[in-house]
Amino acid sequence: MATVFVTREIPESGLEKLRQAGHDVVVSEKDGVLTKSEFLASLAAHNPDAIISLLTDTIDADVLEAAPRVQIIANYAVGYNNISVEDAKAREIIVTNTPGVLTDTVAEHTIALMLAITSRIPEADRYTRTGEYKGWAPMLFLGTDLKGKTLGVLGAGRIGSRVAEIASKGLGMNIIYHDVKENEFLNSELHAQRKEAVEDVLRESDVVTVHVPLLDSTRHLLDEAMIRLMKPSAYLINSSRGPVIDEAALVAALQNREIKGAALDVFEHEPEMTPGLADLENVVITPHIASATEETRGKMSDMVAANVIAALAGNTPPNQV
Ligand code: GLV
Ligand code: GLV
Repeated sequence: MATVFVTREIPESGLEKLRQAGHDVVVSEKDGVLTKSEFLASLAAHNPDAIISLLTDTIDADVLEAAPRVQIIANYAVGYNNISVEDAKAREIIVTNTPGVLTDTVAEHTIALMLAITSRIPEADRYTRTGEYKGWAPMLFLGTDLKGKTLGVLGAGRIGSRVAEIASKGLGMNIIYHDVKENEFLNSELHAQRKEAVEDVLRESDVVTVHVPLLDSTRHLLDEAMIRLMKPSAYLINSSRGPVIDEAALVAALQNREIKGAALDVFEHEPEMTPGLADLENVVITPHIASATEETRGKMSDMVAANVIAALAGNTPPNQV
């Protein structure tokens, strides 16, 4: 029997599968992110064979050192920038993530963010529910149409492609994208155009949506100079990772109306937000919930369990990174 340490409560279905496979599942009792010392203490207490981690857990050399029996870190997220994969590799520890199951969900939330900012829904909702609505008016909350506009996708992986598909087929938007490689689906199905330079996507798009992983090369990809390339009428959407955008530069650009608006599910220093961001009306904000549907969070739980069960049986897990 192996011990699986789960750093915080996740949906039960995967945990049940782990128990059925004969493993001892220990879920951290803290209702919150473990501090580093709490994490190290838990590892010392349980000496697990597997860890199910969240994107809010930093998995570095100290953590791996404190868990000498660990064979697998199964991250409950598609992004795994919270894990030092090199340190894990050096110790022959397997790292897995949860790709695929959350693609549609994150794409739908991204489209919801785009519609929310261009139709000004949260702003109009606040206005209406606080009793400011005094009757129909021709100039009330004028928004922005999307049909025929250009959506610029930065990162045409699974999620970026699905966002492009919904925007193209559902909303009639034109698609341009930047990715390290050509995306045949976008090119042939959506008549999308790949741009060699991120700058060209920023210059030409009416809405820019970010779907790159967080890497050294994508940190502050959108800095002050890059944001300045966007049209004053353009919107920026981010459901990937906060540090891809220089948030202070974004707040300044929004305050100075250098771009029209932004819709963000992620922040540079979560859960903190750059001062001023939450005061802006031309911003829609959600708390890193783009994959948070009942269906998808359950599938993610099953997926981490399948990865752990495979690794502990000595097999290659389906979602090794
Ligand atoms: C969520 O942000 C994820 O990476 O799954
Ligand atoms: C992540 O799942 C991506 O490929 O967009």
